Amino acid sequence: MNPTAVANKEKILAVLYTAGKYAKEQPKLLGTIENKLGIKDWLESQGHEYIVTDDKEGPNSEFQKHIKDATCVITTPFHPAYLTRDVMNKADKLKIAITAGVGSDHIDLNAANERKITVAEVTGSNVVAVAEHVLMTILNLVRNFVPAHEQIMRGEWDVAQVARNSYDLEGKVVGTIGAGRIGYRVLQRLKPFDCKELLYFDYQALPKDAADAVGVRRVDDLKDFLSQCDIVTVNAPLHEGTHHLINDDTIKSMKPGSWLINTARGAICDAAAVKRAMASGHINGYGGDVWDTQPAPADHPLRSAFNTMGGGNAMTAHISGTSLDSQERYANGVKEILDNYFNKKEQNPANLIVTDGQYASKAYGKR
Ligand code: NAI
Repeated sequence: MNPTAVANKEKILAVLYTAGKYAKEQPKLLGTIENKLGIKDWLESQGHEYIVTDDKEGPNSEFQKHIKDATCVITTPFHPAYLTRDVMNKADKLKIAITAGVGSDHIDLNAANERKITVAEVTGSNVVAVAEHVLMTILNLVRNFVPAHEQIMRGEWDVAQVARNSYDLEGKVVGTIGAGRIGYRVLQRLKPFDCKELLYFDYQALPKDAADAVGVRRVDDLKDFLSQCDIVTVNAPLHEGTHHLINDDTIKSMKPGSWLINTARGAICDAAAVKRAMASGHINGYGGDVWDTQPAPADHPLRSAFNTMGGGNAMTAHISGTSLDSQERYANGVKEILDNYFNKKEQNPANLIVTDGQYASKAYGKR
């Protein structure tokens, strides 16, 4: 054991999701309380204390108990421990909050800035997994796959029941809100489908060569953008400027019968408004894997949101960015961020969301 490291003993608290029996069956499930991001031995061999829990809700949770003297906290968007201003007020020793994955909206970033807590995430670790999930969900909805599969599982056979709401992706206008790492990868993957047009809405413009490579056109006004899309995919972080960006009012600008895919963050879309728009037929389908509360309660409106034909729901639990390939990348990334922190080495700038009391990332709203 390195005696210097013991002198700088850190308390690292990780809040991860539970895998139970699946952790033994599949050791690559690294982002779980059982497999602990694969860094337990590495941390403990340096004399650090490493607490891992899934208990995150309320003032008596293990999360709130241990945050009081933790110096580093690791959280994950898949089972978010909400690092609110109130929780931070109890966390006197906290220096760095690391997101095992991408998306740090479960952390009050303004409060972290005031407290000079660094927030870092493993940028890029799961962007391919999400882009693939977006494509899968678009195809699921447009081709009306879920009702088709459910019918077969029920032992039935009725082609017309499914075909009455099944279309081609070819020839449709598809737009992404946010054209960053995921949004751009979605556009790249859409290109071979011969869509009528690809659009994006983002306050940061794509470099011209990147836009030309996928043939995407930028639209500056959200309502104008929405009115042109048959399919809208949301790929922007959740922040003050995107909370309920899709609501009763903006949905009115969407094309009647269009599809909406949200794998970014649940609270970007007003779930009740989406459910109403599906019931009225204005939105033909909604899919994604993110919820405004996670785990989503059994009576969450998006569990029972259907179009006028009883279909159009392609929701899953928050799984898109936690493929096993992604887990390996974000586990390694967390280790690298911690190693830089322990050894006072410069962090990869792309991983920094806030640091030294300022936003380091341009993705969390125009500032
Ligand atoms: P990124 O930082 O590469 O790109 C985000 C883009 O959104 C930026 O170009 C930014 O300018 C744009 N943006 C921000 N606010 C906007 C607004 N008001 N309107 C339009 N565009 C806006 O981030 P990346 O890697 O593409 O990830 C995006 C988000 O996807 C993450 O913040 C996270 O919330 C979510 N995500 C979800 C995962 C899942 O498992 N479902 C996994 C990974 C990320």
